[in-house]
Amino acid sequence: MGSRKPLIAGNWKMNLTLSQAVELVNAVGTNRAKSDDVDVLVAPPFTFLGAVRQEASAARIFLSAQNMHFEIKGAYTGEISGRMLQDVGCTHVILGHSERRSIFGEKSQTVDLKVKAAVMIGLIPIVCIGESLEEREAEKTFEIIKGQLEGSLQNFLADDKMPRSTIIAYEPVWAIGTGRTATPGQAQEVHAFIRGWIAEKFGKPTSDEIRILYGGSVTPANIKDLMREPDIDGALVGGASLKADTFLPIVNFLAA
Ligand code: 13P
Repeated sequence: MGSRKPLIAGNWKMNLTLSQAVELVNAVGTNRAKSDDVDVLVAPPFTFLGAVRQEASAARIFLSAQNMHFEIKGAYTGEISGRMLQDVGCTHVILGHSERRSIFGEKSQTVDLKVKAAVMIGLIPIVCIGESLEEREAEKTFEIIKGQLEGSLQNFLADDKMPRSTIIAYEPVWAIGTGRTATPGQAQEVHAFIRGWIAEKFGKPTSDEIRILYGGSVTPANIKDLMREPDIDGALVGGASLKADTFLPIVNFLAA
């Protein structure tokens, strides 16, 4: 966990109803540990954002979207811009999630445009990267991670500068929704590689501050072991973030 403030983030994906979403935010707000030692964030579907905004803010829960378009406005039927997300209270946006990459064909080049647009208007990007099972088995994990970092953060490389608020989420594709979590050691190895890459490109002071989250079958049972690792600064939680019963023990992992 190092000296960085932990961040527990819930990615709700395309789940829940509006009333369940409001109820869940309220339950997390009411029952989270009172100390501010852990940052908490939720990423509801677009249509719930406005409705949970007040509750999230009252509960000190950061609000994030799960995706956005890279233009500020224009003729992009069906898309949502970063400014629109800010208008409904978002401070963060998840970009390049593996489901967007694999199901919707999103390339690192597009993720890079989105990261650039988000930073330009002051939204904090949560940039997702991760290898598939085949890539891991072919021992290509580090090569893939490096390629995704270089591709998705091209604009930072061009500027020679990475905003220290940027969040990276390492989500091995084989661990997402499968119940097969990376071991703390496997996750730490990749997190250390990512931090090393950031240090090499942007300097150690920057790499010391960037938070790197782990995602992939995080549960109340494995959060503490994961958080013991020096380069794991939090979690991006999918399935277990959909119920207060499972999300709260993760949010309150320090208190348990
Ligand atoms: P699960 O926690 O359901 O494996 O999902 C992880 C994830 O994709 C979070 O973004």
